[in-house]
Amino acid sequence: MGTVILGTGSCLPVKRVSNHDLEGILDTSDEWIQSRTGIKAPRISGKGEQTYNLATEAARGALDMAGMTADQLDIIVVATISSHMLMPSCACFVQKELGATKAFAYDINAACSGFLYALDLGDKYIRADPTKKILIIGAEALSARMNWADRNTCILFGDGAGAAILGHQQGESGYINSNFFSDGNLWHLLYMHTATSNNAELCVEDNPGVHVVMEGREIFKYAVKAMEDAVRGLLIKEKITIDSVNLVIPHQANIRILNNLIERLEIPKEKVFINVAEYGNTSAASIPIALDEAKREGRISTGDTILFCTFGGGLTWGATLIKW
Ligand code: UT7
Repeated sequence: MGTVILGTGSCLPVKRVSNHDLEGILDTSDEWIQSRTGIKAPRISGKGEQTYNLATEAARGALDMAGMTADQLDIIVVATISSHMLMPSCACFVQKELGATKAFAYDINAACSGFLYALDLGDKYIRADPTKKILIIGAEALSARMNWADRNTCILFGDGAGAAILGHQQGESGYINSNFFSDGNLWHLLYMHTATSNNAELCVEDNPGVHVVMEGREIFKYAVKAMEDAVRGLLIKEKITIDSVNLVIPHQANIRILNNLIERLEIPKEKVFINVAEYGNTSAASIPIALDEAKREGRISTGDTILFCTFGGGLTWGATLIKW
């Protein structure tokens, strides 16, 4: 073992957009959205709440819990698909805002799975050099990347950020293992173009613009089965049963996906942390926000085995086990 989470933090935009608010701009209803997704009122960014602003505030919370200052950080990795610029990375803006002068910084793109991929990456850095302190963040302002006329997608997503500081500690606690997968053949089920190309030769046909496009039903089908298989594979690899997991923190996609997963894996509901009603699907931010809330609500104790699972665009999916 060795790679431990020294602190967590999260930041949500101030403004809530309820399903009733959406009824005013879309042919939809609170009843439809709640019954299909479990979502009530996600947070949507306003002025001064760019992806990097949310990420920076989440990082400050994590540094505070870890009892660290930004100049102690060696590496900053932000998982995001909704940075306000393509370049520089969101991570470089966070580095600047925090004044993390020693740290090098970059983003990764694995959609909703990004935070778990970053956690796995952080573990590899720390195994190579246990003195390193790594800030990993999942941050999104997907409201800027929604087609607000598409009721299939815009009702699902929200904005926010969550962060964790990774370091090394002797003993039983630490990152255990992950079981990750990707299938680029299924990219078309959930995607987002960049703006149209300035090179006519590279223009992509049928580019609908910079917003999330999704085949909801297909995604639903794949998400449940893929997460179930990833979790089962990881438990077998680590020779543990679901009974010895103390807390499950899944990607908060929607309540029907989560309920299906809970049923298939026969997990007692009280062991699963769910906050999708409040925030909707915040993509890469969903797991670290939930982790921070679980920690601050006292749902996590030293020695607990925590299981994460995720699914998102790419397609990307997987599961991760840690011992707190
Ligand atoms: O990280 C992964 C992210 N993605 C997801 O989590 C999405 C997974 N998919 C889902 O959760 C579900 O597929 C949705 C919630 C997106 C849609 O629910 P569904 O039960 O699969 O609905 P559907 O797409 O089969 O559509 C059923 C009906 C359609 O009307 P018709 O054609 O039967 O007349 C839709 O046009 O519901 C209609 N509909 C809506 N009605 C009211 C679709 N969106 C809405 C809406 N309000 N917002």
